[in-house]
Amino acid sequence: MARYLITSALPYINGIKHLGNLAGSMLPADVHARFRRAQGHEVLYICATDEHGTPAELAAAEAGQDVRAYCDEQHIIQKTAGERFGLSWDWFGRSSNAPNHRLTQHFCEVLEKNDLIEERVDKMVYSVDDRRFLPDRYVQGVCPYCGFEHARGDQCDNCGNLLDPTDLKEPYSVISGSRNIEVRDTRHLYLLQSKVQDRIRAWVDAHAGHWPALTKGIAYKFLDEGLVDRGITRDLSWGIPVTRDGAPRPGFEEKVFYVWFDAPIEYIGATVEWAEATGADWKRWWRLDEGASDVRYVQVMGKDNVAFHTVSFPATILGSEEPWKTVDDLKAFNWLNWYGGKFSTSNKRGVFMDQALELLPPDYWRWYLTAYGPEGSDAAFTWEQFQSAINTDLANVLGNGLNRILKFTASRFDGRVPEGGEDTPLEQKLQVEVAEAVAEATAQFEAMEFRKAAQAVRRLWVLANEYLQESAPWTAFKTDPERAGVAVRAGLNLMAVIAAVSAPILPFTAERIAAALGLEGPLPWPDADGQAALRRLVPGSTVTVPDVLFAKIEDEQVAEWTERFGGAG
Ligand code: 2FM
Ligand code: ZN
Repeated sequence: MARYLITSALPYINGIKHLGNLAGSMLPADVHARFRRAQGHEVLYICATDEHGTPAELAAAEAGQDVRAYCDEQHIIQKTAGERFGLSWDWFGRSSNAPNHRLTQHFCEVLEKNDLIEERVDKMVYSVDDRRFLPDRYVQGVCPYCGFEHARGDQCDNCGNLLDPTDLKEPYSVISGSRNIEVRDTRHLYLLQSKVQDRIRAWVDAHAGHWPALTKGIAYKFLDEGLVDRGITRDLSWGIPVTRDGAPRPGFEEKVFYVWFDAPIEYIGATVEWAEATGADWKRWWRLDEGASDVRYVQVMGKDNVAFHTVSFPATILGSEEPWKTVDDLKAFNWLNWYGGKFSTSNKRGVFMDQALELLPPDYWRWYLTAYGPEGSDAAFTWEQFQSAINTDLANVLGNGLNRILKFTASRFDGRVPEGGEDTPLEQKLQVEVAEAVAEATAQFEAMEFRKAAQAVRRLWVLANEYLQESAPWTAFKTDPERAGVAVRAGLNLMAVIAAVSAPILPFTAERIAAALGLEGPLPWPDADGQAALRRLVPGSTVTVPDVLFAKIEDEQVAEWTERFGGAG
């Protein structure tokens, strides 16, 4: 038994997440957590809402709500949607909760003691009418290079040039449209990443052996470019107050920590929340001096988050010189696109988690997003591909096979696992093939190669169909019922193996299959050779026929959803 700490990137609070967010962080983290639990390991799967920053403030304003009330509401919405998707978080916390305040302030103070914090004066765009400093992308104006009228302060979308907001001609506030804009001095705290660069590189060198190419490539790109010192405070009111020696820091009363400084600290904060709520010990997961040295820490995220987790967060942790647990395996995902373009929360483009569940049960989505997800490269969601994945993989291959054998057991064997008879070479061949497929699935789940793991699971579904085809118990029954009984027993036991191995991806379906076989889920992961699992069912025990496991997606539904959500157009 090992111990696995698993975190997925924390979803921003502003609005329910789309399927792209789910596919690249929370869902694969859940699949891995379920797999490791089934293997019998001790698992702690932590997630939380990432609640600070300008987008949260603006979304609250747009909703006409106080930002705290807005976050309270959105947190519940996201938590509910995640649970309905079967995300088996041990804790779903909030970056605005007290433990994260304490920890974030602690890290800053200790970094300052280690001479890694400096106060600097920046020039920033200030909107007089909005009475606030504007983050770069909330200032727009005329591009000095191409004359585009709505260039953002960080980059012109027309010519692609990177900009400084002070470069813009005729700048205006995106928030109010006001042109009453000034450049003002403002004081901020900087984390001197340049001073910890060598330590971070040594740490990356020591860990990157476990990382996939995507993760490694991003980490070294940033290190090779040289780390720049990073502003970790902002002129905002919503966020974690800046302190010194436990009291408000003079000159920083109107400022808070930058959202990307406090968000990853919430991985620890949420664990503290969990511990406070359950009486558990959070330090044995996070402090190397209190038992965390035998924890394996797995992070899952989209590729845009990798630099923050391989460089910025390590700068905080390593700079503290305290014995914190750092990440071992960092799994990064590419983008799931919506047809040719991007899913977009702000433009409401694509399918969002709550809408998805209005259309179909969670396992349909979990299968598609895992088996066809944006793993080795970007992937494009289309309704047609989704339809074909569901109809072929789930309805035809898995659903039909299961239904056929259970119905046959009900009609010919009185709904009982047949007794008696000896295995033939056909069953022996099946055992070898099952052992191979289970070994392959185990290896791919362990490696967090999710698409390959899904294919290995599917291989078992195909094997079940092939075996039933070859052994043809329906034919054998007419002349040799005992022989038919052996085949049915082998087929039913294979379904029990299938329930166990499919469960990380299809937890709801696995429960239903297990229940139909008279077993109580969640089932343990099969042994390496799968043989004990192939004898799990007690001869004579009762099985039942469940309702249809998966309904096919009809062309009319695809047409309706394309119309509703916008497809290729
Ligand atoms: O990109 C995002 O969605 C961020 N909210 C991820 C934060 S991950 C962690 F650092 F909190
Ligand atoms: Zn331009």
